[in-house]
Amino acid sequence: MIESIITTENPPVHLVKYVLSNSNKILKIYKNIIDAYVLDFFTRSHWNKLPVTWRLFFSTITLDDLQIFLSSHWNKLPVTWRLFFSTITLDDLQIFLNVNNQLSCRRQVWPLEIICLHKFSVPRDISKNQIAEQHKYCNMYSSVNHNVKLEKLLWKHVKNKKRHEIKSFVNLICRTAAIAKCRYVVDVGSGLGHLDRLLAYGCGFRTCGIECNEKLIVRARNLDQLFEKQARAYNRDILLATNTPIHIRYLIDPTIDSVEFIKLIRDAFETDEPFGIVGLHPCGDLGPTLLRLYQSCTNIKFINIVGCCYMKLTTCEETSSNRYGFPMSRFAVENKFHLSYNAREVACHAIETYLDRLRTGQHWQFKIHAYRAALEYLIVEKYPQLGRTALANVKYRTEMSFSEYCIKALKHMDSKLITKEDKDSDMIKTFLQDWKAVVTFYSIRLFFASLIESMILLDRYLYLCQETNDDGSCSLITLFDPLLSPRNHVLIGKRDQQRVCSAVNNVL
Ligand SMILES: C[S@@+](CC[C@H](N)C(=O)[O-])C[C@H]1O[C@@H](n2cnc3c(N)ncnc32)[C@H](O)[C@@H]1O
Repeated sequence: MIESIITTENPPVHLVKYVLSNSNKILKIYKNIIDAYVLDFFTRSHWNKLPVTWRLFFSTITLDDLQIFLSSHWNKLPVTWRLFFSTITLDDLQIFLNVNNQLSCRRQVWPLEIICLHKFSVPRDISKNQIAEQHKYCNMYSSVNHNVKLEKLLWKHVKNKKRHEIKSFVNLICRTAAIAKCRYVVDVGSGLGHLDRLLAYGCGFRTCGIECNEKLIVRARNLDQLFEKQARAYNRDILLATNTPIHIRYLIDPTIDSVEFIKLIRDAFETDEPFGIVGLHPCGDLGPTLLRLYQSCTNIKFINIVGCCYMKLTTCEETSSNRYGFPMSRFAVENKFHLSYNAREVACHAIETYLDRLRTGQHWQFKIHAYRAALEYLIVEKYPQLGRTALANVKYRTEMSFSEYCIKALKHMDSKLITKEDKDSDMIKTFLQDWKAVVTFYSIRLFFASLIESMILLDRYLYLCQETNDDGSCSLITLFDPLLSPRNHVLIGKRDQQRVCSAVNNVL
């Protein structure tokens, strides 16, 4: 992979700022592409939005090459190139673009901008050590410790993807909690409470899940009871009640203040003990709200959150309140960084899954994008007011014809909307012959996904570092296998006990 200039864990603040401002410049340059919906490919001539050099380049590469473009296979570049490209700045791009036709990679010359853009994304891979760690999760004070049957019971209702996430996350939480000397954990956006159960029964934490959906709270409590009942059937002496997770139905609003939050937790645990906050995919503004709470309450000793659903974030342009989800750091606010809805939506795509399909030769599945864009063209031609209407979801099967696709996609609409003549028109035939261009455009948009996600993550990281005035106490790591769980970065903040003590001593 072409070396990213950001490495995860504790990137220095000056480097984060450098990457953020360059990423912002890149987003401005490629706004037209990032904000373009693929379904408008034919109606709005998206191909012409690509820089000329890109059009020339992409019209000659194969779908297999696209895989290289999107993946981390940059080590296929000659070493001298990699060294060279890792040292140049964006400002040098123009100069180098003029000479890049002397360079070659595989069969083609890769536009230099494309190679350089990779430098600004936070790496997404996880190390072999991390994969090994997923198989053992900590049992700090475990009451079900070493009891295989009970452990099996704990995982019984948890799907594979969630198991993978929880194993790694629990491991991390145990380590962070040990450093912070914390036995109380608050899981915000707790869903069915699987994580809380593992932390409580598996590791001996006192846990409180906060969830706004009443139905999920009821199901979470039922799952606790079921586990306790079955656990007692195995071992009558087992003391589970002390660990029963607490589940609270509560909507954490971005305007919540620290006093209100601390009261909520004190009432739940019936103690003033310090605690840590964790969030496994808290959507939209919930993640930023938790970071603000952590920053303002010293009783919160650590925070571990994995973000998701970035399109649900509010940006400063979308609200009159100062509690928006992006940007968060002073640096990004002062520089007026902005991410459009489309940009945030792209950042949520599962690139690794897409790549896997490209890699395993399943490109034909992506013909569906061309079908959707061609159908959009027909709809907008006749009924402009129906542009971008949500149609039925259709999965591409081998050899599915455009006509078949239209019938399925339009099943909730008037079947006479699009006629046989429309579907068989020469224009549509030309469009469909060009299906690889649509896939290419889709891939190019995806190419920006990591960069946009990195901006969101680095902005949050910077917020934590700046607000706590200590970049040693926060880190950003990859935790999950991106193929199983594409939103795989965890932001970690922990209050250093020693520093806190010495700060207190200095005051005294
Ligand atoms: C993506 S799900 C993750 C659920 C769980 N953490 C897991 O990993 O299975 C996000 C959860 O957060 C809840 N949620 C979203 N916004 C919330 C808010 N402001 N306050 C409380 N819960 C919220 C949703 O109802 C949903 O159950």
